[in-house]
Amino acid sequence: PYVVTDNCIRCKYTDCVEVCPVDCFYEGENMLVIHPDECIDCGVCEPECPAEAIKPDTEPGLDKWLKLNAEYAEKWPNITLRKEPPADAATFDGVDGKLEQYFS
Ligand code: SF4
Ligand code: F3S
Repeated sequence: PYVVTDNCIRCKYTDCVEVCPVDCFYEGENMLVIHPDECIDCGVCEPECPAEAIKPDTEPGLDKWLKLNAEYAEKWPNITLRKEPPADAATFDGVDGKLEQYFS
């Protein structure tokens, strides 16, 4: 599957949800995740993310993110419609340490 990684946190542009054919995005306060058992690996969401936060789990080093996506997809509500990103989204693009400081 594809996974959402740290740069989504506090950017949360939600462009990704509009294109997913199986509606497998789930919404936390500051981040979205993909349900790995529902994602059909189509790849259409990856180029839609302005923060480049979506990656295939075949990339090295993404085990932690795959686990986080799986865990929170079971806890958070489904999201299928784009919404306005946070007003300060652009200021968080590329910031380090977002998982430690701002994950929710
Ligand atoms: Fe949805 Fe396809 Fe992205 Fe998986 S890869 S989350 S199925 S758009
Ligand atoms: Fe996050 Fe990118 Fe979607 S910032 S909400 S993964 S468009």
